[in-house]
Amino acid sequence: MFDKDKPSGTLVVAAVLSLVCSVAVSTAAIMLKPLQERNKLQAMHAEILKVAGLAAESGDIDALFEQQIITRMVDLETGEYVEGIDPRSFDQRAAARDPQQSTSVPRDQDIASIKRRANHALVYLVGDAESPELIILPVHGYGLWSTLYGLLALDTRENTIKGITFYEQAETAGLGAEITNPRWQAQWVGKQVFDESGDVQFQLVKGGVNSASEAAQFQVDAISGATLTSNGVTNLVRYWMSAQGFGPYLAKLR
Ligand SMILES: Cc1cc2nc3c(=O)[nH]c(=O)nc-3n(C[C@H](O)[C@H](O)[C@H](O)COP(=O)(O)O)c2cc1C
Repeated sequence: MFDKDKPSGTLVVAAVLSLVCSVAVSTAAIMLKPLQERNKLQAMHAEILKVAGLAAESGDIDALFEQQIITRMVDLETGEYVEGIDPRSFDQRAAARDPQQSTSVPRDQDIASIKRRANHALVYLVGDAESPELIILPVHGYGLWSTLYGLLALDTRENTIKGITFYEQAETAGLGAEITNPRWQAQWVGKQVFDESGDVQFQLVKGGVNSASEAAQFQVDAISGATLTSNGVTNLVRYWMSAQGFGPYLAKLR
């Protein structure tokens, strides 16, 4: 017979309680998963609209995204759009871990320290897919403590940067994490990535940009006290704009 005052009774109560609690936690986790996924996607849509300069303070973010942004998948090696796969089903981070869907980055080319690169990438476009006025490219690379995930918006008419955002990183608050500061990000707007011969010249400069210099059009102030994170940002932009990243795609658009 069950006697709660006996050691066996205590064990039975503990076991039943654990079972009830674990069922409750698992049910909540399973039921909340779709909601979490939807919120994650909506947060990404908000970042894309923000970096494109289309952010609405309020309103239906998903509807605005559907209206304004074309999502396409690019084969990074050929620079061609990939047809027949729903871009919404593509997870670039999972693809980068899957040997079937990714390529190992040779050490001498791995300036962004990403080790593997997915064969495909999503691009977000404003205007027409064949000659977009704005291209928003997902970029990532290693900073000091963490991988920095960002979106770089390029204005194809002006050949300049329209905006940058870093939506995921774990650098030190007040130091490396200042890459998320909108005042610092504002310096990127209007800067150029490529010189006239198509070489990537963009970089963050320690000690501040000399606005009188020729090179200032390609430069943004590095974060002071966070040279290593800043170098990571320069390197990730250089990697993703190079022939190993979006180079072939950007060349096709030009
Ligand atoms: C606790 C701590 C956290 C730091 N966090 C960062 C960081 O997030 N990013 C970074 O580049 N440097 C960080 N640093 C500083 C680096 O170790 C290094 O000194 C710095 O990047 C050099 O930049 P500076 O030449 O602009 O001073 C941190 C240092 C300490 C002690």
